[in-house]
Amino acid sequence: MHSSSELPTPRQSWIAERRDAAVATFTAKIPGIYQANIELDPDVAAWATGRSDCPSLFLTGPIGVGKTHSAWQATRQWVHHQFGASYRGTPVVESWRSTALFDALRPDADGNSGRAMVKHLQRVDLLFIDDLAAARPSTWTQERLFEIFDERYINRRPVLVTCDVLPSSLAEVTGDRVRSRLAEMCRGGVVLLQGADRRRSAAA
Ligand SMILES: Nc1ncnc2c1ncn2[C@@H]1O[C@H](COP(=O)(O)OP(=O)(O)OP(=O)(O)O)[C@@H](O)[C@H]1O
Ligand SMILES: [Mg+2]
Repeated sequence: MHSSSELPTPRQSWIAERRDAAVATFTAKIPGIYQANIELDPDVAAWATGRSDCPSLFLTGPIGVGKTHSAWQATRQWVHHQFGASYRGTPVVESWRSTALFDALRPDADGNSGRAMVKHLQRVDLLFIDDLAAARPSTWTQERLFEIFDERYINRRPVLVTCDVLPSSLAEVTGDRVRSRLAEMCRGGVVLLQGADRRRSAAA
């Protein structure tokens, strides 16, 4: 039997209900092959559960090592942990593959200028960009990327980036100003996943 002092308060129950709903909504957005629960690298798990000093996470490592899978599962845990003592409402997470993001930021996408998109991505609680070095943005898209990162940088809003190169090697993709901001945002939050290409072992 639990004593009454151990029972959750009505507020705690209310927050737990919202947490479970938010995690379920997020889980439904995870692509099929990344749905499985995996054991996370300890530093990734520390970020996901709010035990890292750095609010952002930069996941790097060779092809197929598990960066994208780790990022989706870490984000799911991150969402869960936003409902603790510092609860401030259901967090808004945006997840984008860099190729799709750069397409969406182009002025001709769906006949709009991409402005609303920039504003939204400046403000969301977590911006997850998968495989940042995979796409080559135009100068115009680099400018939009700068607007997004600069606003997030000055407001200390977290980003989660997966990439097969280190932040210091990103200038060609993001431009120098984004590279510099990203390096500071992810200082203490760069995790190198090491190991074999898991796609090869799966095929063996
Ligand atoms: N910890 C894990 N346990 C079991 N399977 C895993 C684990 N991490 C990743 N995988 C599987 O390995 C494969 C490759 O993972 P993933 O796509 O995350 O690699 P990646 O590092 O993002 O690769 P790329 O650099 O090509 O984007 C996927 O099928 C994924 O589900
Ligand atoms: Mg990947």
